[in-house]
Amino acid sequence: MSNYRIRTFEEYEAAHKKSVENPEAFWGEIAEHFSWHKKWDKVLDWNFDEPKIEWFKNAELNITENCLDRHLKERGNKLALIWESNDPKEKFVRLTYRELHTQVCKMANVLRSNGIKKGDRVCIYLPMIPELAISVLACARIGAIHSVIFAGFSANAIADRVNDAQAKMVITSDGLNRGAKQIPTKRVVDEALEKCTSVETVLVAERLGWAPNMVEGRDKWLGEEMDKAHKDCVPEIMNAEDPLFILYTSGSTGKPKGVVHTCGGYMVYADYSFRNVFQYEESDVYWCTADVGWITGHTYIVYGPLLAGATTLMFEGVPSYPDNGRFWQVVDKHSVNIFYTAPTAIRALMAGDEDDVLSYSLDSLKTLGSVGEPINEEAWHWYNSMVGKEQCPIVDTWWQTETGGIMISPLAGITKTKPSFATLPLPGIQPVLLDAEGNEIKENEQEGLLCIKHPWPGILRTTWGDHERCKNTYFSAFKGMYFTGDGAKRDSEGNYRIIGRVDDVINVSGHRFGTAEIENAINTYKGVTESAVVGFPHDIKGQGIYAYVIYSGDNTDPKAIRDGIVQKIVENIGKIAKPEVIQLVPGLPKTRSGKIMRRILRKIAEGDISSLGDTSTLLDPEVVDLIIEEAPHVKQKS
Ligand code: WT7
Repeated sequence: MSNYRIRTFEEYEAAHKKSVENPEAFWGEIAEHFSWHKKWDKVLDWNFDEPKIEWFKNAELNITENCLDRHLKERGNKLALIWESNDPKEKFVRLTYRELHTQVCKMANVLRSNGIKKGDRVCIYLPMIPELAISVLACARIGAIHSVIFAGFSANAIADRVNDAQAKMVITSDGLNRGAKQIPTKRVVDEALEKCTSVETVLVAERLGWAPNMVEGRDKWLGEEMDKAHKDCVPEIMNAEDPLFILYTSGSTGKPKGVVHTCGGYMVYADYSFRNVFQYEESDVYWCTADVGWITGHTYIVYGPLLAGATTLMFEGVPSYPDNGRFWQVVDKHSVNIFYTAPTAIRALMAGDEDDVLSYSLDSLKTLGSVGEPINEEAWHWYNSMVGKEQCPIVDTWWQTETGGIMISPLAGITKTKPSFATLPLPGIQPVLLDAEGNEIKENEQEGLLCIKHPWPGILRTTWGDHERCKNTYFSAFKGMYFTGDGAKRDSEGNYRIIGRVDDVINVSGHRFGTAEIENAINTYKGVTESAVVGFPHDIKGQGIYAYVIYSGDNTDPKAIRDGIVQKIVENIGKIAKPEVIQLVPGLPKTRSGKIMRRILRKIAEGDISSLGDTSTLLDPEVVDLIIEEAPHVKQKS
C-alpha cells in the first residue's frame, strides 16, 4: 500500500488517519517521490500565531526539474501540453515533454539575458496561449517569482500589482482573442506602466499579428528573443521555502493582496492532490477549463499535471464560441478523459439547447470536476447525466487561492460523491467547524465557520510585503486556526457542504471580489458620496454584484450616472466586476454607530423583504422603505 496514490476507500481512511497522527511522517514519505538536490532537515516547523510555516526545511530543488527534466527519460515523447485555439478552425499545438522542456529552457535564458535573476518579480499578462505556461515555468526555472495577472484586469489593476511587487519585467502579447472579440493587451499594459517605475523590460508575444507601439529600449518581441536563445538552461537551485509565485486575490478589506506560495510545499501538494483527486492514469488526457490567471490554472493546468507527467490541455476560448457546443467539441476532438470546469459554465450551458451537448459523443470522459463556487443540485444532476452519462464520478473540489491545492473533495471513484457536497478532506487536511465564539463544533449535522487546524504543504506563507495582513486575515480570527472565510455544514457521515463566504467577499462566476474594492472604485466617480456593495443569488453567475449608491453631484440623468459608475469599475478593476444592479439611493441603513447594515441590503438585493428584522433602531429607519420602493428585485417579486 502506498499513501502516495490512494486506490481504495480503506486506503483513503488509513492515509487520512496517518496524516493526522503523524503529519511529518506522512508528508515526508510523500516527498520522497520527487527529485531534490538536497533533502530536508525537518519535514515541518510551524506556528499559526506569527504565522510561521516551513515545510521541508533546508531542502533544495527546482520545481521545473520535477515538472519536466525528470520525465524526459520515460516520457520525453509523451504529450505534455495540447493547446486548442479560440478559433475551432485554427490548428492546435502539441508539445511533447521534450519540446516543452526546450521551450521553457529557451525562455528562461531569454529572462536571464534580460537581467532577470533569482528573487526578481515578473508579471505575466497573457492570454491562454502556450507562451503563458512557458513563461510561468521559465520564471520558476531561474527562481524569478511570477505574478500572473488575469488578462481581463484593467490597466489600473495591473499597475497596482506591478507596483506592489516592484516587478522588473512584464510579459504580454500584442492582443488576445476572446470568443468573437479581440482585445489589445499590449495597449492595456502600456497604459498601466505609465503609473509604474520598476519595470525595465516588456516582452511581447505575437498572437494577433498586430503592430503595437513598441517602446524603444523597453519592449522586445518574445519571438525574436527566443530565436536567439540557447536551448540548455541550468536551473536555479531553490530553497524549499523560497517564494515560487505571488497571486493577487481579493479580501474583505483594501486592495487585493499578494498570496505567496513557496517552492517545496506547493510542489508536493499540487502533485499529490492532482493525482489523487482526479485518479489520473498515465494515458489520460486531462483538461481544466480555468484560466492560468487564477489559482486553478496555476495548480491544475500547469504545475499539478506536469509534476504528475500528465497530458494537460489548455484552451484559449470560451464555452459559448462559436456556439454552446464548444467544450464538448474539444472533448471529442482531443479525446479528453478528465474534465474540470466551473459551475457557472455548467449553468450557462444548461440554460442553452440540449442538442449542443447531445451532438457529441463524450465517450472518452471518465471523470468530471467542479471548482470555484458551490455547485447547486440542479447543475450537478445536469452535469452528471448530460455530460457524464451517469458513468463519471464528479469531484466537487473545495479550495482557495490561499490553500494552493484542493482541500475537500471526493477522490474520483474511490470515495462517495453527494450532490452539492465537497464531501471529505484530503489526507493531510484537518477541517473543523467553529461557532461564532470560536468553540469547535464536534457534532455532525451542524453548521459553522470552516477553519483548518493544522498546516498542509500547500498553505500560503505570507502576503507579499505585508505579513501582518496575512496574520490578521487568516490567523487572528481564531487562535491556532487558519480561517477560510467560508461557512460550511457537516452531514451525519462527516461530509462537508460549503455554504459560501461569511465575510465581505463576493464570488461572481467563481471570481472573487471584495465589496470594499468595488466600493472604492465607485467612490471615485465624481458626485458619489457613499456606496455599499453586496452579493445576491444569480442563476448563472452564482452571485451577482448589487451596488447601492448615494449620488449628490450635478448630473440629473440616472442612466448617465450609472454608466459613469460602471466606467469607473471597468477602469479600476475590469469588466468582470460590472454590477448587475446599481441602485441610486437617498441614504444607507446604518446603526447608530454608523455601521452599514449589509444584512438588510442583501435581503433587499435578493428581493426578499419578509425578514428584514427590527429596523427601528437604525439611525434613519425611513431610508429602508425608500430603498425598497425603488428596488428592482423587490418589484419583480411583488
Ligand atoms: C472561494 C475561493 C479554488 C479555486 C477557485 C476559486 C469558493 C471554491 C468551491 C466549491 C463551494 C467553493 C469558496 C472559497 N469555492 N471552490 N467546490 N464549493 N465553494 O479560488 O478565488 O481563491 O476563491 O471560492 O467560497 O473560499 P478563490
